Amino acid sequence: MAKPLIIANWKCNPDSLTNALAITRAVEREVKRSRGVEVAIAPPFPFLIPLQGAVKKIKLAAQDMFWESIGPYTGSVSWQQLKHLGVRYVIIGHSERRQYQEETDEMINKKVIAALKNGLIPVLCVGEKERTPDVSGVVGEQLKNALRGVQKKWLKNLVVAYEPIWAISTQKGAEADTPENAFRSRIHIRKIISDLFDRPSADVMPLLYGGSVRAANIQGFLQEGRMDGALVGGASLDPEEFGKIVKLAGRQNQNPSQKWL
Ligand code: PGA
Repeated sequence: MAKPLIIANWKCNPDSLTNALAITRAVEREVKRSRGVEVAIAPPFPFLIPLQGAVKKIKLAAQDMFWESIGPYTGSVSWQQLKHLGVRYVIIGHSERRQYQEETDEMINKKVIAALKNGLIPVLCVGEKERTPDVSGVVGEQLKNALRGVQKKWLKNLVVAYEPIWAISTQKGAEADTPENAFRSRIHIRKIISDLFDRPSADVMPLLYGGSVRAANIQGFLQEGRMDGALVGGASLDPEEFGKIVKLAGRQNQNPSQKWL
């Protein structure tokens, strides 16, 4: 079984490089002690270069990328520039980018393809805005559009993050999904990937849960929810809380049989 993958999505935080380095160093200490878990930090772009020197076990991730390599695209950061910095994962299609930057399915599709073709691991975010019995319909549409033109052989590098938007901690009245629901969504998503590509591709694709993940609920998502990891927003800015999440995820991996209870 692959290691659980825990990605810190810092969003537009923290306010200064000093604070970014302090959080990173504290998390790095915890990650060094924890075996059996892969941890990545996705900071705002200006912190990527200074963070390179502060990470050893932690991997670097980006919160977005542009699909062209270089050129006249003011304000964009390309996949090529990120690759040169040693970035491994790139979050694509986060609901906040869909909302505030008006990212469309078409743009997300171009980014996913550019990442997969060029050796970055896209962490494709999908999830429904409001609670609905038709998670499969909403997420199915997002996946179908985002993965249009993706070749089956590229899929081994794809990570999908299921993030019900209503569960994201900054939403009004947000609360985490239940592990049982997350497990149901996992089954839907596997079926969708299996229908779009094939069963073996669906079986190997890591699926993360995101939305109000905390130390208190991570084990539920990894065990009953059978998720392969988590995309953590708010809690990833608190090194103590995030350190606990990392530790618990690592422990989970030392008892892999628990995953199938
Ligand atoms: P949250 O954010 O953990 O603060 O809910 C998750 C995300 O938006 O990726």
